[in-house]
Amino acid sequence: MKRNKILVVDDEHLIRWSLEQNLKKQGYDVIVAGNGEDALRMAREEQPDLVLLDIQLPGISGIEVLEKIKEFDDDILVIMVTAHGGLETAVNAMRLGAYDYVSKPFNLDELSITIKKALETYDLKREVARLRTETKKSAPNIIGDSRHMKHLMEVLDKVARSEASTVLVQGESGTGKELVAKWIHCSSSRADKPFIAINCAAVPASLLESELFGYEKGAFTDAKATKKGLFELADGGTVFLDEIGDMEMGMQAKLLRFLEDRSFRRIGGGRVFTVDVRIISATNKDLQKSIEEKSFRNDLYYRLQVIPIVLPALRERREDIIPLATHFIEMYNKDFNKKVQGIAGMAERMMMDYSWPGNVRELKNVIERAIILGNDEILLLEHLPLEMVARAAPQSGAPLSAFRLPPEGIDIEEVEKELIRQALEITEWNQSKAAKKLSLGIDAFRYRMKKFGYLK
Ligand SMILES: Nc1ncnc2c1ncn2[C@@H]1O[C@H](COP(=O)(O)OP(=O)(O)OP(=O)(O)O)[C@@H](O)[C@H]1O
Ligand SMILES: [Mg+2]
Repeated sequence: MKRNKILVVDDEHLIRWSLEQNLKKQGYDVIVAGNGEDALRMAREEQPDLVLLDIQLPGISGIEVLEKIKEFDDDILVIMVTAHGGLETAVNAMRLGAYDYVSKPFNLDELSITIKKALETYDLKREVARLRTETKKSAPNIIGDSRHMKHLMEVLDKVARSEASTVLVQGESGTGKELVAKWIHCSSSRADKPFIAINCAAVPASLLESELFGYEKGAFTDAKATKKGLFELADGGTVFLDEIGDMEMGMQAKLLRFLEDRSFRRIGGGRVFTVDVRIISATNKDLQKSIEEKSFRNDLYYRLQVIPIVLPALRERREDIIPLATHFIEMYNKDFNKKVQGIAGMAERMMMDYSWPGNVRELKNVIERAIILGNDEILLLEHLPLEMVARAAPQSGAPLSAFRLPPEGIDIEEVEKELIRQALEITEWNQSKAAKKLSLGIDAFRYRMKKFGYLK
């Protein structure tokens, strides 16, 4: 059997040496590098299966090395070694594609388990990825069981099956506009034709026209060859015009003309092309207001919103928060090889109370971070971002918004009993840990356990 090759990158000689000895003993081929430049060269030339990469390196940083490695070979596993307390950097590294992280000073036994697990799941993952690319793209999952979302799914279903050629999706940032656009495309008869997205805010006005309509050779100085535009390339499929509210007025007029009969000329060209594309546009701006302010054309607005879809903010459909969180937990469990099974009561309350200005995207990021940081079977309050906890309870200064007194009042004994139960549950009935969770001494805690019948 082929031996796995590991590249150890650390600027401290002693650490390199001890890791090398230790890993060799376990049957790996080991190569070492003392700085980022050498690490990159060796990663390219020697093609290791796994890199153990110190974040703090002289010269180019571990994070940069990680990014470069992922650029040229996404399959190489990278485990980051972080200084104690460098959690945010670790989170960042995981987002950039690191497989896992270990904190210094590390325990060699734990480290070898992490490495072994990484190499084992690696082969499995490759297999799964191969299978995935072979199947046809199916519609993305839209999670949510609230009244709003049920209604939305009914509308989407009808839209996907209809011939409706323009759809306008409105909603705050992060509510799922692009997801909805993809869902419509993948669930329609156009699914095996292209879905092309363009962000109208990100492309300068002068370029947008040639991106959408294409140009003929010689149309302008840089037009060395004919280029097809997106409408032509997407023929039979769907074009997603994101951030349409930021489209400049001149371009709006051109788009409107195209929408009249789906025909256009390439820039500098005479021939008229007619295409069959569905246009889904999206914006988080209030277009009515833009119309009043004369920055958006009224006639284009009516043309685009033949079918209007409005995505509610997450705080307007709180029933969806936990199902979404659970969905993301499952997703990131897979990505980061974790086994989080649920959410602790306090964390759940916090999520339910929070206003989620960034909507589903913010929730997704919060869960990603929590999964990366936590090693428990349950997602705990301490894994939620501090800002979030602070913002959910601005008056008290402590993460106590979960305890806001409801207008009808509460039975304080009941609450106490419930908290004791939760503390025990979270800690798997470890009494001293549970006591700590409630800032109680062990005697005070046991007294309460007895009082509520948890202890004979
Ligand atoms: N109902 C949902 N179910 C599952 N995932 C969702 C849902 N809504 C949003 N998401 C996920 O949340 C993230 C943000 O969604 P999306 O990019 O579609 O938002 P958006 O409205 O286009 O945001 P922006 O206005 O900032 O561009 C995506 O990763 C998306 O897959
Ligand atoms: Mg978007």
